[in-house]
Amino acid sequence: MGVANWAPDSWRSHEGLQMPEYSDGAALAATEQQLGSYPPLTFAGESRALLNDLAQVQKGEAFLLQGGDCAESFAEFHPNNIRDTFRVLLQMAVVLTFASKLPIVKVGRMAGQFAKPRSAPTETVEGVELPSYRGDIVNDIAFTADGREPDPQRMVQAYNQAAATLNLLRAFAQGGYANLHQVHRWTLEFMGRSPWAKKFAETADRIGEALDFMKACGINAETVPQLKATSFYTSHEALLLPYEQALTRQDSLTGQWYDTSAHMLWIGDRTRFEGSAHVEYLRGIGNPIGMKCGPSLEPDALIRLLDTLNPDRVPGRVTLITRYGHDKIEAGLPKLVRAVLREGHPVIWSCDPMHGNVVKAANGFKTRPFERILAEVRGFFAVHRAEGSFGGGIHCEMTGQNVTECTGGAIAITDEGLADRYHTHCDPRLNAAQSLELAFLLAEMLNDELAERRKAAA
Ligand code: PEP
Ligand code: CO
Repeated sequence: MGVANWAPDSWRSHEGLQMPEYSDGAALAATEQQLGSYPPLTFAGESRALLNDLAQVQKGEAFLLQGGDCAESFAEFHPNNIRDTFRVLLQMAVVLTFASKLPIVKVGRMAGQFAKPRSAPTETVEGVELPSYRGDIVNDIAFTADGREPDPQRMVQAYNQAAATLNLLRAFAQGGYANLHQVHRWTLEFMGRSPWAKKFAETADRIGEALDFMKACGINAETVPQLKATSFYTSHEALLLPYEQALTRQDSLTGQWYDTSAHMLWIGDRTRFEGSAHVEYLRGIGNPIGMKCGPSLEPDALIRLLDTLNPDRVPGRVTLITRYGHDKIEAGLPKLVRAVLREGHPVIWSCDPMHGNVVKAANGFKTRPFERILAEVRGFFAVHRAEGSFGGGIHCEMTGQNVTECTGGAIAITDEGLADRYHTHCDPRLNAAQSLELAFLLAEMLNDELAERRKAAA
């Protein structure tokens, strides 16, 4: 069973923005065919498991943590980078679980997050105009005519990198690396270096005590395997539709189509307009999907999009990822929340405090001040509390590396410091310490939110 009037290629008769023009159509078609014959990266059953997990979030019984690179790159492809990002996500999850007593659904922006939307189709440097960089899956970041030419074979390299990344993530998640005691030990190491160690020590100590208590009761990784393994899912923006279509496969059990390039796919703020090729593609796949919601989205359009993307109102199917900016969220978000509540659409609300908070530092670096990121998260919870809905997730751009891309945080990165280790291929990411700080601060806010909810329910 599939969705009516939909096929994996039906997006082609809709308006598709933010995709490259390949000059060699025959080479593109050959690559699509090549990818179409390759094994799926994820399985329908896994996407259904995520759908169930997200349905718990929708009910307010779990919390979604989604994070990773803005853009994965061929240059940064290294096991240590994968390990470190995975590790920080797990640490964040443990801190959040402890504060909220809720299961945390962990979804990486990993193993496929390559294609980028850009604000302009071309870039001009010293009088030379070339196509914009659209992510390593499309062209090269190097500013040369050759480098910027879209090359379909890059999709094959991206597929191979995604396959190897996913393989390592599966091993980390299931092979013992994700042991809860181990994850807590990493956090304690971090505490030793953090200037906020005192502030976070109480939470860290209590997690340690809880683990010791469980150990004394005979609950350890040997007796309870759940302590040794974890569920970890992958996601990326479904932007480059020829690639996504090539990995779209029919599930033999249900007949439903799935995009097997990741467990969850989302649609960006620039391509989520009504009638777009991207909306058309996503409406037909069985995966859980996300949609970025920025200040230009009106409530009526949102409801029509939800009717298109989730006509059967399946809980867990749609995550709305709001990205307003610290100074716009409290004015902009309530009208969307009210419309969704009024229409009774089951959605998960997740906060992306990154994409509305980009500023240019005096020395030209694109950055995001940590304070503004926090302010947007605070605003997000404030709106949901006031409207009586559940703020159920966080979506961030982060890395396990010690980069200097976002300013602020406890080990304050200054504008001048940005030049030290600014490695991102696209937007500035939180580094490992900033990510963990965010988790501790978010944990406090989530705790308050849940206390209010319990009070209201009593
Ligand atoms: C992104 O998530 O990297 C992105 C481009 O976001 P948005 O579509 O919200 O601008
Ligand atoms: Co980004």
